[in-house]
Amino acid sequence: MSGKVAFTAMEHGTKADYDLIFADEEDRAGEFAERVLGWLRDMDGDSPYLISRLQHSLQSATRAERDGADDETIVCALLHDIGDVLAPANHSDVAAALLAPYVSEKNHWIVKHHGLFQGYYWFQFIGEDQNARDKFRNHEHYQACVDFCARWDQPSFDPDYDTLPIDHFEPMVRALFAKEPRPFF
Ligand SMILES: [Fe+2]
Ligand SMILES: [Fe+2]
Repeated sequence: MSGKVAFTAMEHGTKADYDLIFADEEDRAGEFAERVLGWLRDMDGDSPYLISRLQHSLQSATRAERDGADDETIVCALLHDIGDVLAPANHSDVAAALLAPYVSEKNHWIVKHHGLFQGYYWFQFIGEDQNARDKFRNHEHYQACVDFCARWDQPSFDPDYDTLPIDHFEPMVRALFAKEPRPFF
């Protein structure tokens, strides 16, 4: 990076300042995917499940790939629980927000709602309605989210499954985040 902005408050910013900031962001774009991969690797700790949260993520992505999903969808399966690292109380929202500028509206919707849809398998054990997802029954992506959970997310806690390693998925993650992001405003 070369140069610094001239302002100390944004109200005094100039186009030259923002040219400099955007050039710097462009230079650092590759670091973003590495940071996300770092979060993913951080999920390799101990857990009460039979496999780590990283292995669950890799297993979900492996199942998606073996089902013939496209690369974008495989990366969504890989990162669907990445919000666990930062926001366990609303992990689906965090993963969805991270992916939103780079994925289809359908994939974004699935990732955002997967936590609620996964509740079908366990909400009854905490006194909640396991069919809470049914409020979206008429939504165009309802069935796709049901399938995401049924085929890739809920079965991926198996220590004996032949799960692909993180290196296999790294190029897909880098390619997704190298795309031109959609503006958020
Ligand atoms: Fe989840
Ligand atoms: Fe999951």
